[in-house]
Amino acid sequence: MSQLTIALTKGRILEETLPLLAAAGIEPLEDIAKSRKLTFATSSPEVRLLILRGSDVPTYVEFGAADVGISGKDTLLEHGSTSFYELLDLKIARCNLMTAGLVGVPTKPGRIRVATKYVNIAKRYYASQGRQVDLIKLYGAMELAPVLHLADEIVDIVDTGNTLRANGLEPRETIASVSSRLIVNKASMKLKHHQIEALIDAVEAAVGELL
Ligand code: PRP
Repeated sequence: MSQLTIALTKGRILEETLPLLAAAGIEPLEDIAKSRKLTFATSSPEVRLLILRGSDVPTYVEFGAADVGISGKDTLLEHGSTSFYELLDLKIARCNLMTAGLVGVPTKPGRIRVATKYVNIAKRYYASQGRQVDLIKLYGAMELAPVLHLADEIVDIVDTGNTLRANGLEPRETIASVSSRLIVNKASMKLKHHQIEALIDAVEAAVGELL
């Protein structure tokens, strides 16, 4: 069998992904959380794992540096590529992509400033609503932007809503529902068809069991 490389997103998605892979017979040979390594051999000799920043997973899969990737739908929408297959909804790390603003401050008519790390999604969303926006790219702590009058609204993922509430913000509109997806490089799908199909079947069964 040929080597199969699976790119994973470090952090919260990883914790929820590992049990699904374990159910498919793929377990890292060492504790990922306790290591600074970026690649890990697994209990399945032909499968190795890469631990990446979320936004890099689609890029690795697109270019074939990884055969398979697990990535949030938010990241895939922002990446905006159709150059890989999105084959499975893992139904983990569920949240919503939303707009949010200061509590009790109605949305301003006319042109507004929007702070987000999801600039492509925000650009498409506000355009679809016929609203004009100036986008400000941030890399984290988006919730501060309206408080400090850097922006009128933010676009961010909302899970429990605790971060919004703790910072005096309220959710406004839902842009998309988010969960983690399994993506596959197009050439790998042809060249490693049996291996990838077996992986998808096993993970899909695990998704059903763990729900
Ligand atoms: C995300 C997001 C919000 C928070 C929402 O950040 O950016 O800050 O989670 O979750 P809540 O609705 O349950 O409060 P995350 O902790 O994933 O870190 P990040 O800022 O690096 O994306």
